[in-house]
Amino acid sequence: MTLYINSCVRKDSRTNRIAKALLDKMGEYTELFLPAEDIRPLTEETLSKRDALLAAAKYDDPMLRYARQFAEADKIVIAAPFWDGSFPSVLKVYIENIYAVGIVTVYGADGVPQGLCKADELIYVTTAGGEYIPDFGYGYIKALAENCFGIKRTRLIKAEMLDIIGADAEQLVNEAITTALGGAP
Ligand SMILES: Cc1cc2nc3c(=O)[nH]c(=O)nc-3n(C[C@H](O)[C@H](O)[C@H](O)COP(=O)(O)O)c2cc1C
Repeated sequence: MTLYINSCVRKDSRTNRIAKALLDKMGEYTELFLPAEDIRPLTEETLSKRDALLAAAKYDDPMLRYARQFAEADKIVIAAPFWDGSFPSVLKVYIENIYAVGIVTVYGADGVPQGLCKADELIYVTTAGGEYIPDFGYGYIKALAENCFGIKRTRLIKAEMLDIIGADAEQLVNEAITTALGGAP
């Protein structure tokens, strides 16, 4: 099953539109609309609880459901607009919640993380008002996926320069959809 992690806040999100076109072609998927989920930053209390669960290998606790869902997905699609050089904070909070050692990764004897996730590919869909700079958005997710989660392949699908004066945003989004679906732009 493909897991669609949607961090697009706007109702008319163009990032979500591109991701949905791709997902419709890929087949069945489960959507996690992050802005509507009860996903919160870890606190001293919730972190202690999680540490205790992980130490006791109680992976079936509801608190770890997002981590389990992420680890079990066959493919992962993330939609995240380019915000402040990165992505919406709800996606970072989600990552903080799923990064459970013992479920998505384990540390080897050498201290190097070994991924436990089943997905063979993670596709990151984004749009940007100006030029898309991947360093702290796609670059960060790619590094986590490949180095920590064991997801071997990552791919970026983007539409950029959507908000600059004179841009035909509609056309740029449609071109990104064509590219995502494997056609010539
Ligand atoms: C809070 C916020 C921060 C943004 N930061 C950037 C930015 O750093 N660089 C940029 O090029 N565009 C930035 N933009 C513009 C968005 O990347 C652009 O409008 C994008 O297409 C929005 O995606 P959406 O249609 O899926 O909501 C920002 C927009 C918002 C609302």
